[in-house]
Amino acid sequence: RQNERESLFIVLNFAKNFFEDQLLTTEEGQSIGLSYFRERGFNDTTRKKFELGYSPEAWDALAQAALAKGYSAEILEKAGLFIPREGSATGGYDRFRSRVIFPIHSVAGKVIAFGARIMKTDSAAKGHQPKYLNSPETAVYHKSEVLYGIFQAKNAIRQADVCYLVEGYTDVVSLHQAGIENVVASSGTSLTVEQIRLIGRFTPNVTILYDGDAAGLKAALRGLDLVLEEGLNVSIVTFPPGEDPDSYVRLIGTEAFKDYLRKSARDFITFKTTTLLADAGEDPFRKAAVIGEVVGSIVRIPDAIQRQIFFHKIAEMMRVDEQMLISEGNKLLRKQK
Ligand code: UTP
Ligand code: MN
Ligand code: MN
Ligand code: MN
Ligand code: MN
Repeated sequence: RQNERESLFIVLNFAKNFFEDQLLTTEEGQSIGLSYFRERGFNDTTRKKFELGYSPEAWDALAQAALAKGYSAEILEKAGLFIPREGSATGGYDRFRSRVIFPIHSVAGKVIAFGARIMKTDSAAKGHQPKYLNSPETAVYHKSEVLYGIFQAKNAIRQADVCYLVEGYTDVVSLHQAGIENVVASSGTSLTVEQIRLIGRFTPNVTILYDGDAAGLKAALRGLDLVLEEGLNVSIVTFPPGEDPDSYVRLIGTEAFKDYLRKSARDFITFKTTTLLADAGEDPFRKAAVIGEVVGSIVRIPDAIQRQIFFHKIAEMMRVDEQMLISEGNKLLRKQK
């Protein structure tokens, strides 16, 4: 087992170097991959820091290079890099082809997986392939336990004592380039307890920067009771419709972006209340349902003093009696036990 893990790390590192090499030293990689990154505004320092790469169009370019170096098709497959197929020269084909590559690192900095972006989003031209293709689960990659960028971000998270959580690979890369390094991505999935605990190793404070669309917002509201339960302090920043942290920092510039974060961060409970209330309008039944929802979140907070502060704040916001909220909360707490 331990041996297999070591072998996987070695072949994944070989693949990372291969993709980087393809990007920098081949005609195809330079004219397609490197120019894609340049068009997105990623500079060389950023590119090196994240070890970005390019996977060529050929069916089995990586497999051929790896087999020539003595790696087996079996280990390539176990690393999630190779898909076996009967009757082909190398016995299969590369998982990642014609894509720019974002290596995914463990906390300790080992490459454990890859995210790979198609360059044309014109899906008709590419036969409806997904925008991003990711490594499958392997012996060294458990998606639900990993946060993209944690290796590059961990010191900055400790120092700033807050972790920015974004949705996408490019948000992480772009914010680093803008000098904001305390940032990791959930990579499009909803947060898991393992990911929350990983952040908790470096700071108790997390600020969620979600893409500016309704889907992102709904996802944020749903997953976050988990984070409260783990005792983390959660704030939220939203962006104008159609913007994500990457596009927005490029639109308004680093200083304005930092200002925006400072000014628009709201604690999760307040954010949730405001958002649900806006939906409920003046309907008393729907308002009552909002109270239930919000109290349901507050009682997840392990710290009694924080709970008290939120009951007070929400009572004022909703213009309801604070004692009523507290007794609703106590009812919920009793039900939980
Ligand atoms: P987004 O669609 O917001 O992509 O998905 P993005 O990160 O802003 O990428 P660009 O700017 O269009 O290049 C957010 C994240 O969801 C995951 C990826 O991790 C992506 O970064 N995702 C998205 C997938 O895994 N597969 C997909 O097909 C799309
Ligand atoms: Mn596991
Ligand atoms: Mn984006
Ligand atoms: Mn996005
Ligand atoms: Mn009070």
